[in-house]
Amino acid sequence: MLARAVTFALVGLEPRRVEVEAHIQGGAPSLTIVGLADRACQEAKQRVRSGILSAELDFPGGRVTVNLAPAELKKEGSGFDLPIALALLAASHQLPRARLAEHASCGELALDGRLRRVGGVLAVAEGARRDDLERIVCPYEACAEAALAGVEPVGVRHLSDAVAYLRGELEPPEFVVGNGKARRRPLDLADVRGQERGRRALELAAAGRHNLLLGGPPGTGKTMLARRLPGILPPLEEEQALEVTRIHSVAGLVDPDHPLIGYAPFRAPHHSASTAAIVGGGPRLRPGEASLAHRGVLLLDELAEFQRPALEALRQPLEDGELVVARAAGSVRFPARFQLVGTMNLCPCGARGDPGAQCSCSAQRLARYRDKLSRALLDRFDLVVTVPRARALELQAGPGEASDPVRARVVGARLRLADCTPKRTAAADELLTRAVERLPLSGRGRAKVAGVARTIAALAASDAVLPEHIAEALAYRAPTELATP
Ligand SMILES: Nc1ncnc2c1ncn2[C@@H]1O[C@H](COP(=O)(O)OP(=O)(O)O)[C@@H](O)[C@H]1O
Ligand SMILES: [Mg+2]
Ligand SMILES: [Zn+2]
Repeated sequence: MLARAVTFALVGLEPRRVEVEAHIQGGAPSLTIVGLADRACQEAKQRVRSGILSAELDFPGGRVTVNLAPAELKKEGSGFDLPIALALLAASHQLPRARLAEHASCGELALDGRLRRVGGVLAVAEGARRDDLERIVCPYEACAEAALAGVEPVGVRHLSDAVAYLRGELEPPEFVVGNGKARRRPLDLADVRGQERGRRALELAAAGRHNLLLGGPPGTGKTMLARRLPGILPPLEEEQALEVTRIHSVAGLVDPDHPLIGYAPFRAPHHSASTAAIVGGGPRLRPGEASLAHRGVLLLDELAEFQRPALEALRQPLEDGELVVARAAGSVRFPARFQLVGTMNLCPCGARGDPGAQCSCSAQRLARYRDKLSRALLDRFDLVVTVPRARALELQAGPGEASDPVRARVVGARLRLADCTPKRTAAADELLTRAVERLPLSGRGRAKVAGVARTIAALAASDAVLPEHIAEALAYRAPTELATP
């Protein structure tokens, strides 16, 4: 007897339909899974057998073959447990085959038959909606996430509930969604005293989605400033929120009660992070930090401490807005349009840039430090500022401007930039051209200066890019001695 359940395997973030066929024949009892299942998926055998027995259902006798079709598609993870169990039960007449074939399902089985959440439920549910499947049977905790795809979830806590529902004995359980969107309490800029230049650069970075490098001696508030960028970014649009949630879902990072990520994500990997952790990849092909920061901020705190290969690997997504991870069976794409923020001391001892201290670094040590950063990477930073040691007077001053009014200006500038991009006046154009020759600026450098100047004009509510805007933008270029060519 043959029965079929439907689920979806993910290629990157893309759901590909998988038919889980269970076939029972006479002979000595055995269970075989074919169709390019990875190890976690092969281990389904134990979980499915134990889960079915725990649910007080019959594990079919005879030779059982489970085929995951199409065979050439790699099946990863434990989300296939539930469809495999349901196909087996339908093949042994314990639930109606026709009804099962109209549903999608996914979820991991515990040995006692309970269902566990798996990553990627949103993308699987999107596959179910695309293929016009009736409903998706999934772990109860994944309901709210599945519902984001516009398909009705049947959230179950135990295999026996899934069976009862498919037999028509149980209505789809109601599920409660908190207040919909995920929330975050961002750090406020009011905490930062002084540092007007750093604040200004942060606001420009937010308004123009520019990459920002904050340099300077330790303890001046670089990390503090960088961590406050997400709090002055506008919320994500609906489409973007779904895109971000899809990525975080695959990594198993969504809040079950508030799955939709409606704000710009913020990721700050430690400098010891591997290249794979940052740009993704590895055997299970999960999105890396750069993809988790899609539509948001990737902070590399203490930039010069990161491994150079990890830093260099970021050049491609900075250019293309996506990461292409190559693997044997073709390549997989993950979106990675993030804003890069870095902080660093200007030298290993940290005294450089600090008028009150004397740098004790040897020329050799300094050269090695700067070797970590390639000129090519440094070129990707549109805004480079030094954050000097705040004068005592500044620190005694009251709190700085709070994040709310800054975010309001950022939103205004974004609207302006989307509406009608300010154009350079003839004088501004001439200033830029002269700077290109004098500095000299690469093609990319010129484009970056022009872009920052546009943001400055938009924040000033100016219809045109004026020479003063170009002049300010030029002041944010990276000093050439900061990196090796
Ligand atoms: N401009 C500032 N305003 C308020 N507090 C500051 C400022 N700069 C430094 N601090 C204090 O010093 C601590 C260290 O700042 P941090 O941002 O980590 O410095 P950095 O990253 O430049 O080494 C902060 O937690 C904060 O308490
Ligand atoms: Mg710091
Ligand atoms: Zn030094």
